[in-house]
Amino acid sequence: MKEEQLYIQAVNDQILRIFSKDALQKQSFAVGDIQALSEAIPLSEVGAAKEKILETRKLSVKVAGGRFLSVFDREGTLLCEDWDGERQETQALSETELEQLRAEGHAVDEMAAQAFSVVKRFVGDEVVYGLGDKTGFLNKRGYQYMMWNSDNPDPHVENGTFKAMYKSIPFFIVLREDAVYGIFLDNTYRSYFDMGYEDTRYYSFGAAGGVPDYYFIGGDTIAEVIYGYTELTGRAPLPQLWTLGYHQSRWSYGSSEEVRSLAEKLRKYEIPCDAIHLDIDYMDHFKVFTVSGEAFPDLTGLGSELAKQGIRLVSIIDPGTKAEAGYSLYDTGIEKEYFAKTKEGEVYHNAVWPGDSVYPDYTSAAVRQWWGDQAELLTSQGIQGIWNDMNEPASFQGPLPDDVLFYGDGTVRRHEEVHNVYGHLMAQATYEGLKRATGKRPFVITRACYSGSQKYTTAWTGDNQSLWTHLQMSIPQLLNLGMSGMPLVGTDIGGFGANATPELLCRWVEASCFAPLFRNHSAKFTRRQEPWQFDQRTLYINRKYIALHYHFLPYLYDLCYEESLTGMPVLRPLAMHYQNDKNTWECNDEYLVGSQILAAPVTSQGAKARMVYLPEGTWVDYWSGERIPGSRYILREAPLEVCPIYVRAGSILPAMEPVLSIQPENMKKLILEFYPADRQMGKENELAGKKGQEVRYIHYQDNGTDFAYQDGEYNLYEFRFSGERSSGLSVSMIHEGYEGKYQTIEAVIR
Ligand code: GLC
Repeated sequence: MKEEQLYIQAVNDQILRIFSKDALQKQSFAVGDIQALSEAIPLSEVGAAKEKILETRKLSVKVAGGRFLSVFDREGTLLCEDWDGERQETQALSETELEQLRAEGHAVDEMAAQAFSVVKRFVGDEVVYGLGDKTGFLNKRGYQYMMWNSDNPDPHVENGTFKAMYKSIPFFIVLREDAVYGIFLDNTYRSYFDMGYEDTRYYSFGAAGGVPDYYFIGGDTIAEVIYGYTELTGRAPLPQLWTLGYHQSRWSYGSSEEVRSLAEKLRKYEIPCDAIHLDIDYMDHFKVFTVSGEAFPDLTGLGSELAKQGIRLVSIIDPGTKAEAGYSLYDTGIEKEYFAKTKEGEVYHNAVWPGDSVYPDYTSAAVRQWWGDQAELLTSQGIQGIWNDMNEPASFQGPLPDDVLFYGDGTVRRHEEVHNVYGHLMAQATYEGLKRATGKRPFVITRACYSGSQKYTTAWTGDNQSLWTHLQMSIPQLLNLGMSGMPLVGTDIGGFGANATPELLCRWVEASCFAPLFRNHSAKFTRRQEPWQFDQRTLYINRKYIALHYHFLPYLYDLCYEESLTGMPVLRPLAMHYQNDKNTWECNDEYLVGSQILAAPVTSQGAKARMVYLPEGTWVDYWSGERIPGSRYILREAPLEVCPIYVRAGSILPAMEPVLSIQPENMKKLILEFYPADRQMGKENELAGKKGQEVRYIHYQDNGTDFAYQDGEYNLYEFRFSGERSSGLSVSMIHEGYEGKYQTIEAVIR
């Protein structure tokens, strides 16, 4: 590892960029143009003693020995400091040990030599969040991770070996009693994050290629750090409203008849549902952007039939393009040299679902445009959203060699550099193509991504399994994704691989009932797990929680609006709002929806009750209405049909009437559930003719479909409640630009 001269630059008051000179030549795939406030300062020009070299309105930076950086807040509290001591030898496996493991047929996650590595001190009791979709618990301290987008269907667990997952989001948040900050390593090569596994006194991060280039992101709260990170990498734009509804999927619904009968069942059993997903079998021999004429002879007709029932079609697309002369996508791609090549200059082949396949080079703007244009082939047949899969990219005949070449727009890059952004660039192409084709807010789902993909796509966590441990890990996984800038996320409800039991499916739909991406999906050859596949009780419970999800859809949409402005995730760990309460820091099995709802799902087989931690304040049990003082653990009975849910007293929750799908005509009435801050106080005040404690809430509304809101076509309502009667509600408009104002607003006091 060579020592490099590092520079430091203040991006703004809270964000510092630390980088080597070569980083300035690099095109970032995540960060847009940075308006730097000051010039870069070379660290080596600083003397031996600890000297102050930079000060912003929020941070102060000192350097010792020309290389060891310390960052303080302006009150002088140390936030983050380079490790200047000896480093433990990493206990890597020897070549002989690796050989032996491979000979026994074990998959070995090997660590490549690192081109650089940055080591920082743990100052005290830090916990670490973020790092994208990594499995395990919320707190990543004590483990090590690799960022290398991987199609790995093995059961995912956290066990101390470098476990690469589908996504690479090289960003983490460090929380200590007196400090919080984030670090974003903007590097697309295989990167490594050792969060105190090698040595409990420090953590490190580095990459197998590229140059040091990372951001320190300060803030007083976790929320401010996420704000800073999404300031750099972007925020998820508002989704179409229906995309927040329930999606039914399985690999694969293989014919029009099957899809039709599925829609009939959804309606017969009164399961609200907005989308059915078509997995790979809708294609002609797995050729992307084709439709099998045999299985789906009239996709357009099917689409309009379903539309009448309020159901949209979403279809899967993989990047792997079948290498078959006569297949127009392949022929054009070959003619225009749109596919990745070997170092000898031949088109690179591997295999995916269609067999012999080639890989589009999304690093080139022309290829992204071409690929995006294909979306029209689907949207013109009624497809409303695209689900991007296998975009790590997956390859059935061994990994793509590091030296496969991508030609981009004049910059030739090796696969080792492009791999982790392949899914990101494919998502960008799809987003832009769908936008051009429809003018609507594109609905894209992706499996692989990089920092900043939130600008283009939602994401699901890939091939989980119908295992209780996977249900358990789904909560921290979605929360860490949210803290990594990806707010519109979900898991395969019921589990993808292996066989679900009725109980597991019920608990999963309960645990996911506020997830912004709300999809039941399962693998071929597994037991079917649509809500009606088991028994009456399972059907009832699925319907109950899917209906609950729809009930609060206006609230979820408000959270999407908030996120689009601030980067705040929809699902949040308790620590985000109760940072000073250490009991929340490692609360792995509860989450907040925005700041007002707390969900404490049951994730163990057979459990009939669970312990719930309620942070400070008063909490209203959503089911019983009981008002419970917080800052304590309680025991909540939770028979199979109960997912413990609490609403913070002093909340207003916008909700809607029961619907089977999202349509403009059923969005005309808004229900406001008001949970007074202090019931007793409220009563006394009312008797005394005084105003009770006032609660205020801002609600967003637009047509839920296109970009008209960007031209001011939206409404912002301000609701104020005081007292305990619905007459205590006052409504005012902060912004009035959308003509579909509510015809009725009904207040319900809870
Ligand atoms: C991958 C996807 C899964 C999909 C399957 C078939 O395993 O992760 O969701 O059903 O491929 O396309």
